[in-house]
Amino acid sequence: MKLSDAKATLTFSDGRPSVELPIYQGSIGPEVIDIRKLYGQTGMFTYDPGFLSTASCQSAITYIDGDKGELLYRGYPIEQVARKCDFLDACYLLLKGELPTAEQSREFHKDIANHMMVHEQVRYFLRGFRRDAHPMAVLTGLVGALSAFSHDMHDVSNSEHREHAATLLIAQIPTLAAMAYKYSRGQPYVYPDHSLSYAGNFLKMMFATPCAPYEVNPVLERAMDRIFILHADHEQNASTSTVRLCGSSGTNPLAAVAAGVACLWGPAHGGANEACLNMLETIQREGGVAKLGEFIAKVKDKNSGVRLMGFGHRVYKNYDPRAKLMQETCNEVLGELGLENDPLFALAKALEKVALEDEYFVERKLYPNVDFYSGIVQRAIGIPVNMFTGVFALARTVGWFAQLNEMLEDPEYKIGRPRQLFTGSQRRDIA
Ligand code: ACO
Repeated sequence: MKLSDAKATLTFSDGRPSVELPIYQGSIGPEVIDIRKLYGQTGMFTYDPGFLSTASCQSAITYIDGDKGELLYRGYPIEQVARKCDFLDACYLLLKGELPTAEQSREFHKDIANHMMVHEQVRYFLRGFRRDAHPMAVLTGLVGALSAFSHDMHDVSNSEHREHAATLLIAQIPTLAAMAYKYSRGQPYVYPDHSLSYAGNFLKMMFATPCAPYEVNPVLERAMDRIFILHADHEQNASTSTVRLCGSSGTNPLAAVAAGVACLWGPAHGGANEACLNMLETIQREGGVAKLGEFIAKVKDKNSGVRLMGFGHRVYKNYDPRAKLMQETCNEVLGELGLENDPLFALAKALEKVALEDEYFVERKLYPNVDFYSGIVQRAIGIPVNMFTGVFALARTVGWFAQLNEMLEDPEYKIGRPRQLFTGSQRRDIA
């Protein structure tokens, strides 16, 4: 980051001395006011619940321009990454900063394929879960458990160890996610297959059974790969910030990522595509397109507590660029599967149209986010609704590692320790 010539001056209306604060510039995006010495200089904290105005770190991985609706991975627009790279090349880009050469790409694909099979003991660990456990509860547990399988190999101060941890989990998370699904169905686990792509492997491990041959459908394979690319990283979102905060204590990197999986589960974050599909199914059950007006009225009524899931984003105040790419994939998948007239897809399209033209959403700059269409695609592929967030976690694993490693390599990194504005009881004594 570059120190700006300009400085910010903080003045107080009650005569306290003013304070000069340095300003830093990034390569693009808003400048930041450096408040690190503010407490020392004034005895005051800043107050910013939800970090609406706070840059928690410097980062060179992902850039979002929320007003333009632009998303860059290491400088490359998401549209180009989605159309010209496969997911593993995108992973390489996020982790290492540059796209791989053909040779590096081959090596990375091979390395990931070689690590996809999980320790056989993992299947016994799974047995401890109820069959009806939510897959995200299972996945949080499994990722946390992996730290126990390799703790000695993961000294966080060693960059090679960190690279190994990233390779290991990027390779194994599809296997773990598919195992969580197979367990819930009571079906045998399917081992990874070196002859298949990363996305192809995930489909096979999810849907193959020993009873019949399984052919990976290339359209669905490409759709899966695109879902992974679009969810691979997204700057300092809640789960990524969780991984950074958790990892800032120097904990095992796989344990830090398990914390990210737990955070992602929530309906305001990764759970939104599950919530979005549940919402569409409810509207469908209650009358479909004919009942849209009633539903939108409920969304606009603050007392109803109903939100239009798949709409709105903390950063994008324009169309989420990932939503456009997902819509493209959605058309392709529904076409391939002969589901163009799928009533839920028609309902989603009608809902999008109504919302985009409604004053309430226009005024608040609420546009569809990636989750609006990703649920429909996954449902068409046959992924059960409660696995959607697991697919998101699978894809985001690379982003979590890229961000965690960046933090641990930053000489300015410190254990995360926010402060507070205390509003509780002052000191008092027990009578
Ligand atoms: N439906 C209806 N109203 C909404 C919605 C929505 N989906 N999102 C925001 N609003 C309204 C709020 O009620 C508020 O209105 P007000 O100004 O009259 O009080 C205004 O828009 C601003 O909303 P905030 O909650 O302050 O916006 P914030 O940036 O904090 O929230 C969030 C972002 C959590 C994503 C929100 O838009 C939401 O809940 N969306 C639905 C869930 C969802 O799709 N999440 C996925 C996020 S993307 C991802 O994780 C990949």
